[in-house]
Amino acid sequence: MDKWLETNRANWNDRVGVHVTSRFYDVDGWLRDEPGPTPLEHSALGNVEGLSLVHLQCHFGMDTLRWARVGATVTGVDFSPAAIAEATALAKRAGLNVRSRFVCANVYDAPETLEGQKFDVVYVSLGSLCWLPNIEMWAEVVAKLLRPGGRLYLHDVHPLSNCLDDGGERFAFSYFEAAEPLTFDSDETYTDGGAVTNTTTYEWNHSLAELFGALRESGLVLDAFDELDWTVWPQFPWLVESSEGTWTIPTDRPGMPLAFTLVAHLSD
Ligand SMILES: C[S@@+](CC[C@H](N)C(=O)[O-])C[C@H]1O[C@@H](n2cnc3c(N)ncnc32)[C@H](O)[C@@H]1O
Repeated sequence: MDKWLETNRANWNDRVGVHVTSRFYDVDGWLRDEPGPTPLEHSALGNVEGLSLVHLQCHFGMDTLRWARVGATVTGVDFSPAAIAEATALAKRAGLNVRSRFVCANVYDAPETLEGQKFDVVYVSLGSLCWLPNIEMWAEVVAKLLRPGGRLYLHDVHPLSNCLDDGGERFAFSYFEAAEPLTFDSDETYTDGGAVTNTTTYEWNHSLAELFGALRESGLVLDAFDELDWTVWPQFPWLVESSEGTWTIPTDRPGMPLAFTLVAHLSD
């Protein structure tokens, strides 16, 4: 597993430099507009003032810091030192450093790195689970990080849409978790703004049954689950931007889920 994760880390370190200056992430606009949680997130978790939240695979912290803006104390975890350095700098620029900290760790090491700290919320945002070789080990991590009754909020790419090739025309990859990763080689990332040098990545798909089973085995109880026919980037060339930053399926194509959201809590 180490070799795969090291290779992915090199790719993500490269992507950070591209992403922070991209129009896609629009850091200046984010600093100016000061967004909080999205309406979906707000309706799922409600008022988080005073709660502790850990964001797994936090990238350079934009999603994490939105929760600090509405009163949560946030911890972001990512295995990319470049991401953690940028997240720490962004927190300072946004004036949110008092209520936030960013820690460099492999997600599987997070409970040890955070020295057994328990959180009210584990938060995971779009584009995360496909980087993890083993969903059962991930669910164990989530359970270890939550206090009893604490909640997981997960918004990620739907595993069915992960099965399609880049053109979105062919069923190309297994729906189920496989021991061997899918190997990709590309100097592109999902934003505008340039190429990466470390081009190899290893990825894994996890079926919904594998995800639900892993959560159940780790003591998490499912509270809400939704499948979304929209996403936030042109995952396939035929998606249409129905409103700014929202990409949907055109009416002449069959409907399919592009993303999902899930809320679960750790049983007492
Ligand atoms: C697509 S990004 C998440 C993006 C986030 N939703 C956002 O828009 O800011 C995936 C993140 O997972 C991190 N990552 C991948 N594998 C990881 C691992 N094993 N442990 C910790 N972080 C990991 C990468 O460094 C990257 O920052």
